[in-house]
Formats: sequence, C-alpha cells, structure tokens
Amino acid sequence: MWSCVAASDPWCMGMEAALWKARLALALAAVAAAAEEERWAAFSQPGWDYDVSPDPYRNMITILALRQRNLDFLEDRARHVSDPAELEYGSYYTRDEVNHLSSPADADVAVVHGFLSATRGEIQFSKGKDLVRFICTVACTEKTFGTRLRMVKGPTQPGSSPFRAVEPIQLPASVAEALDGVSLNAPVFMPLRPKEPAPKPFVYPANGRTAPRISPRLISGDRFVALRFVAYCKDGRVNQDRVEEGICSSSPSKSTIVSFEVILLQEPDMQHAIVIPAVEKVLGQHVGDCGPEVKCVEFNITTAVENYANTTAMVRAHFSDGSVSNFSSTMEVASTWPLPYVTPHMLEHFYHMRLNKPISHPRNIISVVEFLGQYYNPEDLEAFFRLMGVPSWGFTAHPRLIGRDIPRAGSVYGGEAQLDIQYIMSMAQNVTTWFWSVPGTELSTMQEPFLDWLMQVADSDDQSSPLVHSVSYGDEEAGMPVWFKRRVNFEFMKLALRGISVLVASGDDGVSGTSVADKGPEFCRSASPEFPASSPWVTAVGGTQLAKASSPVCGYSSGNIVVTCHYEGEVVCSSATGGGITSGGGFSSDFDIPWYQRHAVRSYLEQRDAPVPSRDGPWGYNSTGRGYPDISALASNYLVWMGPHLESMSGTSASTPLVAAMVAQLNEKRLQLGLPALGFLNPLLYRLAERHPEVFNDIVVGNNRCSRSRCCEIGFGASRGWDAVSGVGSPRFDALAALLDPGAHSGSQAIADIPGLAQLVAKGAPSATAAQVPAVAWDVQGLLPWALCTLLAGVVLADAIQRRRCGSSDRLREGLLS
Ligand SMILES: *[C@@H]1O[C@H](CO)[C@@H](O)[C@H](O)[C@H]1NC(C)=O
Ligand SMILES: *[C@@H]1O[C@H](CO)[C@@H](O)[C@H](O)[C@H]1NC(C)=O
Ligand SMILES: *[C@@H]1O[C@H](CO)[C@@H](O)[C@H](O)[C@H]1NC(C)=O
Ligand SMILES: *[C@@H]1O[C@H](CO)[C@@H](O)[C@H](O)[C@H]1NC(C)=O
Ligand SMILES: *[C@@H]1O[C@H](CO)[C@@H](O)[C@H](O)[C@H]1NC(C)=O
Repeated sequence: MWSCVAASDPWCMGMEAALWKARLALALAAVAAAAEEERWAAFSQPGWDYDVSPDPYRNMITILALRQRNLDFLEDRARHVSDPAELEYGSYYTRDEVNHLSSPADADVAVVHGFLSATRGEIQFSKGKDLVRFICTVACTEKTFGTRLRMVKGPTQPGSSPFRAVEPIQLPASVAEALDGVSLNAPVFMPLRPKEPAPKPFVYPANGRTAPRISPRLISGDRFVALRFVAYCKDGRVNQDRVEEGICSSSPSKSTIVSFEVILLQEPDMQHAIVIPAVEKVLGQHVGDCGPEVKCVEFNITTAVENYANTTAMVRAHFSDGSVSNFSSTMEVASTWPLPYVTPHMLEHFYHMRLNKPISHPRNIISVVEFLGQYYNPEDLEAFFRLMGVPSWGFTAHPRLIGRDIPRAGSVYGGEAQLDIQYIMSMAQNVTTWFWSVPGTELSTMQEPFLDWLMQVADSDDQSSPLVHSVSYGDEEAGMPVWFKRRVNFEFMKLALRGISVLVASGDDGVSGTSVADKGPEFCRSASPEFPASSPWVTAVGGTQLAKASSPVCGYSSGNIVVTCHYEGEVVCSSATGGGITSGGGFSSDFDIPWYQRHAVRSYLEQRDAPVPSRDGPWGYNSTGRGYPDISALASNYLVWMGPHLESMSGTSASTPLVAAMVAQLNEKRLQLGLPALGFLNPLLYRLAERHPEVFNDIVVGNNRCSRSRCCEIGFGASRGWDAVSGVGSPRFDALAALLDPGAHSGSQAIADIPGLAQLVAKGAPSATAAQVPAVAWDVQGLLPWALCTLLAGVVLADAIQRRRCGSSDRLREGLLS
C-alpha cells in the first residue's frame, strides 16, 4: 500500500527545491492563484531537461528523520542552560540525556526499521534512534521511495549533482506518520569540481586608434594600483618597440612617444596625475597580446593611491613632435578598490588578540564543516602558516579529517575550505581542529546535506568532540522544505542543550538572498532570509570591512567645518563600498523571534538612525521573525594561499571561522578552570550588548541593500546597538576576554568538575523510560537536580554539584545580573 498522507504535507510534496522556492516566493508576492500550478510544474525548471537514468548500481544516502518527542521541554531546557540569567546556566546535558528525552516512540522506530529492513539497503540508526542513514543503490532508492531518479541536462553548477527526483516520494502511511521527512542525498561520492578555465587573456586591438589602451583589469591592493597598457603610434597601429629602442620608432609615422600622462580617478573627487617618462627604469615592459601575427609591447606601472575609493585610470601619450593623443577611455577599464589586506597578523592587532598563547586544553576542539565537494590542501595550509608566521605546533598542525578530503597538490579547488581551515587554525593556535567533510547534495534543496552532518554531530561523544562548529554555508529559506528547516533547527537546539556553539555565516548577498546576484534585480522586491543563519539556535555571523568613514560625522561639512576622518574603522561589508560581498541580514520568515533578542530587535525597529523599510510598502519582510546576524567581524580581502599563490577572498565565510576561533580562545580559560564551555552564545551576547556594550565595536555605517554584485534600492541599515546587518557589532576581543575571564575576580571560581558527577546525578534518578510524556520528563530531568541540590547541601560533594547543576558559581552570571 503506497499512498501520500496529504498533498499539503511537506514530505509528501516530493523532493524538489524549486517547488518550494516557487511556492513561497509566489506566496510572498501574493500571486496565490498561480502557485498551485507552479508547485507541480516545478520539476521542469527553465533550462532543465531530464536525461538518462543514473547508474542504478551507484550507492546513495538517504536520511530519514523520525518524529522526536519532548521538543518543547527540550527547548525550554536549552533556554535555561544557555541563558546567563538562569540558575541552570552552563548545566549542560549529556548526549545520552538529550537522546533519552528526544528519542522517538519505540513503535515509530519499529515501523521505520521494519520498512527499511525489507530492502537491501544498509540501515544506520543514530544513537538517539531519531535519524536513520539509509545507504542503498539508486535502483533500490527509487523502489523504496516510489520515485524515479534522473540525470538532468542543463546549466548545472560545477561540482553540483545533476540528479533529480522526478516524482514526489511516496511511503506507506504508517511510515510517513513516523517521520518528519526524508532527505535524499546524491551521489555518495563527491563529484570532482572541474578546474575553472583560466580567464582568457585580453587581446589588445592591433590598430585603429591613437589613445593608449589600458588592460581592462586593474590590479589593486593596499594603497597601490598597477596598470598595464599598450601605446598606439600616429598611424593608428599598435606600438611594437621596446622603451630602449624608442616607442613607435619603427612606425612609418616617425614620431616617437616620449612620455605617458596617467590620471588616476578616485571617487568621489580625488584625481592624481603623474607623468611617466619613456625610460626603462620607470616603465615595466613585456610582450603583449595583440592577436595573431602582431607583436606588441605591453607597458606596466605601479603607483601609490589612497585606500577605500573606487578607482579607475586613463592614459595619454606625448609624442616627440609635441602633440598628444587622446586619453584612453575609463569605460574600457573595470574600476577597482584599493583596500588593506587581512592576514592573521593584521587580525591579531586589529582585534587585540594574543596569538602567542597556544590553546592547550585537550577538550578545546573546534570544527569547520565543508559541503559540496570543498577540499583543502595540507601543503597549502603549511605554506600559509610559513608565509603568515604562524608557529607550527607539532601534532595539532594538521586538522583531523572526518569524512573524505581529496586534496590536490599544487592546484586546489575549494576556496571556501582553504579559507576556513587556514584562518580558524591561525586564529586559535594549536587548537585541535576537525575538518568535517560531508559528501553529496541534498536533493530537495540541491544544497548541503545538513541532516547527514547533524546526525554525525548528534552522535559525537561528550568528551572528545568539538565544542565549537563553524559553518560557512547557507541558502535561501524559501528554497528549502519547511520540515527540513524545522528539523535542522531542532538539531541545533539539541546541540545548544549540550553546550556546543554553532556559528553560521549570515550570507554574502545582503538582504536579498542569492537570487538577486544569481538571477537579476527583479528579485529585489522582497527580503529573502537565509538558512541556517536564520535559525534561532545558531549564532549568525555577519561581515564588516575597513573604511575611513566609520562614523556618520566623517564627510560632514557646513560653513567652516569639513570633517575628513583619517583613522580606520569597521563599517558594514558591502559590494557598494568595495567589500566584495554584502553582509547578509534580515528577519526569518520561518522562525519566530527568540526570547534573547526581543528587546534588541524592538529597539532596532523603532530607532531613527537608519529607519527600517516600511512594512506597508511593496517591499516585504517579516518583522516578527528571528532577526540576524547576531555578531559580525571583518569579512573582506582575506589573503588565502591557493596553490602556488595568494588570493584575496571576501565573505561571511571568513568572519565565521574567525569568530569561531575567538570562541575557542574564550573557552580555553574556562576549561582550564573546570568550568563549562560557553555553549550557545546568543543569550550571553545580547546580555553583554545591553550591559557591557564596551566589549563590542558597534557598527553604525552601511547597509545591506546590495548583493555580492547587483544592488537593490531597499535594505537594512546599520544603527547604534543591534541591527539586522551587523548584529551587536564586532568583538573587542581583549575587552571581551577580560570581562569573561572566570579567574579574574575570585580564586574560588577555580573549581574542578568531578568527573562522572553528571552521570551520577542522571543514574541516581528514577529511570526515565522512552514512553514517558513530557510532564514526567519535567519531573525527572528538570526538578531532580534541584531536589539533589537541596538534598546535598552541606554534604562534601555539594559544592561541585551546586556548580554543575545549580549553576550559581559562574561569574558570568553574576557579572551580568549585577
Ligand atoms: C611590471 O610587471 C612586472 C611583473 O609582471 C614587475 O616585476 C615590475 O615590477 C612591473 N613594473 C612596474 C614599473 O610596475
Ligand atoms: C580624439 O577624439 C576625438 C573625438 O573623440 C576625435 O575626433 C579625434 O580625432 C581624436 N584625436 C586623436 C588624436 O585621435
Ligand atoms: C597543544 O595542544 C595539545 C592538546 O591538544 C597539548 O597537549 C599541548 O601541550 C599543546 N601545546 C602547547 C605548546 O601548549
Ligand atoms: C565605481 O565607479 C564606476 C565609475 O567610475 C562605476 O561604474 C561603478 O559602479 C562604481 N562601483 C561601485 C561599486 O560603486
Ligand atoms: C512571519 O513569521 C512568523 C514566524 O516567525 C510566521 O508565523 C508568519 O507566517 C510569517 N509571515 C510571513 C508573511 O512570512
């Protein structure tokens, strides 16, 4: 008996992202009538055609998510253990305690197990029995889930899976009822990312002009710009002579070029003119590319300019007969932004971090997760350490690999992975780092198989797995099935309950999600929040960049006063100001505003520094949703070692591992003193922002109306305090570390947790069975520790129990509540 429970049931609707994308996008635009048709037509996206069946013997992974229990209760507990205002702050639950409470009903487990046992697939239940990894061939997967899988022809992204499910999947009703949903991930192996073709060299026209021609791509960096150009002789032919021979000396027109006049134009109104005499010492020269059979000489010069300005250039030639050519056209040249480079050393100074103190607590482990075939190269990591002066710490010099990494010496794909690993390991030196590689593509979202990763993390043990996870991945909320987002969010909540910090990049396309950058400005009509950054149980990290005008007073002018600022500070990272990307931020359409940010968000919605867009207008966003990001940090112009050279990269993908490394630094002292790790950070961050705003650099200039490329009219602006562009701002690391230093005030805080005590407490409890309803769980898990606290007061063990279970010892709490 194969049937779908209800057509409106998310899992029943099939495994196709576009369907949801289309449905939600259209719903937002209030074009409800067309939505129904779109839903079922979505399998044929424009540009896609079904092709052959995939190899039926190839294995693929499917994750089945069983319905969990006691979620409200668990969520309430997670709030208590992660909020410094609560007595239970830091009294995290163990993996087994969480599993015990959340695991599905035995009957549901039996139904799912029975169903899968009838196939030839391999069945791996998570320790909590709430997730199943089902590994089976393509043919078996099609049969088990009642759909057909096909390859598609069309514009597949390099590295993405060309698999699609043709029909919605179908399951027996009893199985369907036991599940939140099913996530098909294909293929099991990672597709090799084709090497991106080298950009075609620019070919200069061989004749037809006298104004010099600048190569379209200016090279710029920290306070310099370099330009390459060819000259044209009086007869309109490209110059073929080297400087020492006399430029245009072999031209029939006989008039040589004696100098070039270069004008550098920097926005808004700086101009900088230089005259370059045609002598060998000042003019670099190479053989240029002017098409077949034409030899030409390309000149190059490097010159100092101001940072932080949109820069372009024009050149003209002075001839020996006293005449001048026209200036080259600025339209022929792409403008560029000279900006300081970010390196570990620069970040150390900028955020006042001390990198010479190695992390040494064995429990202080952090992780970067990589999806979609992103690999890192160990040789590049070593080269980066050498070049950046990061000391090598023996056995922690390499990350521990979870899953597969397929590095390629010399030439590397995976800028994301390289950036993540190079910076997270440099900014928390000697930290034990896991490189968590998760294969495959989730079919309904065509994106990251988040549930496969979360299943592995859920199963990881309490004593030797990462305390901090850095996630540089995300997609538009609207492109993901609702059940999938909910379930991923609950898995994050369960990690919060265990005291594990998850940091997620807020996205690189401002308020508009990826559609504006990928498809066009017609997607500017509403905000498009990104998930998992929009999950209330993660810490979303936005991006900043350096600028000279980091305060609204910079640029002020009236009467006798003109204020130009000369110090560097942080502003919102935006492609409109040369940041390369735009910090993601906004409000979730799926998740309600969480308790910890209510006050901050209300202040933001009401402030007048940068008024939020009107909700009455045509532009849609959900002001009752979870606002993000929570925090931010520099995200622009990071130098990353890629194969044989450095490249500069920008993204909240850079600020996220940086903040993760900072959290590892903050955890170190706590762990040394036997205190619990900081865990889920948001309640703490928002309380700090309220009580101790001095520990953050408030970002007050900039907005996120642009994407990484195109700009829209409307976005969110930065303001004093929290805003939906930069969160509470960037950390002033030294101030933050001093405030959170558990040893700073009283030696009595330096208590050691007695190993096994938590288990003692748990074991001493009347055993909670899987059949218990939430109310009973309350009794057992919520009240028992309190009973024990009272019971054991005065007993010699009381101190430690008091600290672990009753919380009160943490100076963090005291400081914040005082
Ligand atoms: C011209 O470019 C070469 C490398 O391509 C470089 O070594 C040289 O310094 C450059 N010359 C000037 C004047 O910028
Ligand atoms: C300069 O440009 C003008 C118009 O753009 C053109 O008429 C003139 O011939 C050019 N002069 C030279 C020397 O190329
Ligand atoms: C590096 O970390 C390890 C634990 O992961 C520790 O045993 C070792 O002492 C640390 N090295 C230094 C120099 O602190
Ligand atoms: C930089 O200036 C050029 C024109 O000089 C303009 O076309 C371009 O849009 C500007 N770039 C940005 C990001 O504002
Ligand atoms: C706004 O968000 C809430 C949950 O946060 C949701 O219930 C509601 O449907 C959302 N509204 C829109 C228009 O997205």
